[in-house]
Amino acid sequence: MEQRLAGKVAIVTGAGQGIGQGVALRLAREGADLVIAEFNPQTAALVAQQVAALGRRALAYPIDVGDVSALRQMVTSVTQQFGHIDILVNNAGITQTKPMLELAETDWDMIHTVNQRGLFFCLQAVALQMVRQIPENVKTAGRAERSYGKIVNLSSISGRRGRPLATHYAATKAAIISITQSAALALAPYNINVNAVSPSVVPTPMWKQIDLDRGRLFGSQPGEAQAAFIENIPLKRAATLEDIAGAIAFFCSADADYITGQTLNVDGGFEMD
Ligand SMILES: NC(=O)c1ccc[n+]([C@@H]2O[C@H](COP(=O)([O-])OP(=O)(O)OC[C@H]3O[C@@H](n4cnc5c(N)ncnc54)[C@H](O)[C@@H]3O)[C@@H](O)[C@H]2O)c1
Repeated sequence: MEQRLAGKVAIVTGAGQGIGQGVALRLAREGADLVIAEFNPQTAALVAQQVAALGRRALAYPIDVGDVSALRQMVTSVTQQFGHIDILVNNAGITQTKPMLELAETDWDMIHTVNQRGLFFCLQAVALQMVRQIPENVKTAGRAERSYGKIVNLSSISGRRGRPLATHYAATKAAIISITQSAALALAPYNINVNAVSPSVVPTPMWKQIDLDRGRLFGSQPGEAQAAFIENIPLKRAATLEDIAGAIAFFCSADADYITGQTLNVDGGFEMD
């Protein structure tokens, strides 16, 4: 595979399973060294081993992205160990299936703490380090000749349209589109690119949970909720991990140096704007 990311250091949050794991392995295959920033220390260690087996440097970094001081400590520690941070994939996320009229404050806070607050403060901590890495003469010129960092956030089709069974989740995913645009504008003078991807259905442990929860609510069998969703996807299939990881790797590469502030639908044609 083309080594578009050779010499780059990438942090992927929530990389212990699902989309994050797929992204970490794809970035490693493209040449990046990886920090597996993951809540579950066991899965973090496993994915770090898989990255190392690809010949890349890998660090398993157990963390709760809802803990802002831990995020800042991670940036310091990774910078000390790797020397620089070039890529952040803000992937860690959680969901919950619950009717809108039954949502409690604790449900709302739980989802927002990880998906929105955690994502923003992780982005901010890493962006501050990316800015520190830019040579002073480039900073004072106010115009950089190349990209000085790539940040990719995970939104969702749920950020494009309301979801009565996951109102709080959908709100965070809509907020991520806005955060992506604000951060892209704030970081444009430093030539740091900020983009997002918006998947539809990716069969991961998160979707297994959604299926089980919908089964409890509506009496459907495991897999039925996902199959019903896929029926409405023009390409009539779920995404593979590579479908999502490929789009993210593109945003992380020099091929996307002139793209910032965008949220790309990687959803089989489900949404078209
Ligand atoms: N699977 C889909 O169909 C789909 C669709 C659209 C968007 N997404 C988004 O993609 C991202 C990944 O989804 P997935 O399906 O791979 O989910 P998943 O539940 O399979 O994996 C999420 C990973 O994030 C980790 N994580 C959760 N909370 C964390 C925290 N506080 N700190 C650090 N790590 C934490 C989990 O331990 C897990 O390893 C999420 O942001 C999700 O909202 C997924």
